[in-house]
Amino acid sequence: MSLTHTAIPVSPRISHFSYAIRNIAVEAERVEAAGRRVRYLNVGNPPAFGFQPPAHMIEAVERAMRNGENGYGPSPGIAAAREAIAAEYTGRGWPVSANRVLVTAGTSEAIDLALTALVDEHGEVLVPMPTYPLYTAVIAKLGARAVYYRTDPSRAWLPDFDHLARVVTPAARALVVIDPNNPTGATYPTEVRRQLLDFASTHGLVVLADEVYGDISYQGPLPPIGSLDADAPVISFSSLSKGYVAPGWRTGWLAIGRSPRMEDLVVALKKLADGRLCSTVPMQHAIQSALTGDRSHQAAFRSALQERADVTTRALQAMPGMSCIAPTAAFYALPKLALPPGKTDHDYVLALLRATGILCVHGSGFGTSPADGFFRIVFLASPADLRDIYTQMGAFTAEYISR
Ligand SMILES: Cc1ncc(COP(=O)(O)O)c(C=O)c1O
Repeated sequence: MSLTHTAIPVSPRISHFSYAIRNIAVEAERVEAAGRRVRYLNVGNPPAFGFQPPAHMIEAVERAMRNGENGYGPSPGIAAAREAIAAEYTGRGWPVSANRVLVTAGTSEAIDLALTALVDEHGEVLVPMPTYPLYTAVIAKLGARAVYYRTDPSRAWLPDFDHLARVVTPAARALVVIDPNNPTGATYPTEVRRQLLDFASTHGLVVLADEVYGDISYQGPLPPIGSLDADAPVISFSSLSKGYVAPGWRTGWLAIGRSPRMEDLVVALKKLADGRLCSTVPMQHAIQSALTGDRSHQAAFRSALQERADVTTRALQAMPGMSCIAPTAAFYALPKLALPPGKTDHDYVLALLRATGILCVHGSGFGTSPADGFFRIVFLASPADLRDIYTQMGAFTAEYISR
């Protein structure tokens, strides 16, 4: 029998790799093809809404290209970038040395590298619920297990330490902390951050600190969690994507704290980094320019975001059946709709898309229960556009819950 017509099999591991933020866009493309305008509120992509990186970063990349910096670079990153990143953390109270910094293809690659170096098959990683879904996707790809710990909407989405204590087991290797948080827009007070470090220390966990939104908390830049205890085993992830408005450059980093317990991990991460050669070299030249240059764009970005957060929270809280906790950072809100019986968050998001062209992401794509009715909105559009979007969403939702 000829096998030429049978489908090429894919690995079963793909069935567990899920990234709802982009997966849902497939349905949006169908809606668009049918002639309806789609308002994409699914991806946190500031340049798509007119926010752009400062000119000195663009000039640094252009200069690097013109100066012939178009070859491979060192696997861990160019020295100027690693030194600028180390100086940035150190200046914010967390001493980091340049030889414990790796420049990566965004925070995303940093997450993948760190989890790959840390977690065995069947090992466990504590992940906040709701979470940024790349964590659970990569953990699934590695054959490891994501163990959710609740963050509590009735307490401004802060971690539920009682739940955390109930779910941790001796197989846990790492505690993921996303602060400021996507998808909730929460920021954690110092006491909560301290409690997270204490919890990790009690259970022998590495803290994987996703600090990609650290510069766009509306109150101003936040110190890295490592600044609370320089000796704690912390790995911080960040990038040029959010605070420096250049997500398409795919340029980020990870920084490993000074704890001697992480020496082997540093070696392992460098070994993994060798395998992918290097991250984009011309863009790495923007890192020093970003971290040492003028950052006034960040103050403007923060106040634009605060205004949009206010418009969003007010509009959602006024909708029937809807509740929304005010975000304190970034450009996400995670409202909750009291769903009609038998409906899921995914049903609502699809119905909203088909009826209005407004594309949000269902909360279950971030780990919440489908019946809970959470969904995520990216509020980067202009306040006028957002008002228009929320008027349509409010009218649709009133009709949807009365069906
Ligand atoms: C919490 C969080 N971590 C990581 C990322 C990935 O960012 P990057 O563009 O730096 O890979 C995102 C992107 O939205 C995010 O929200």
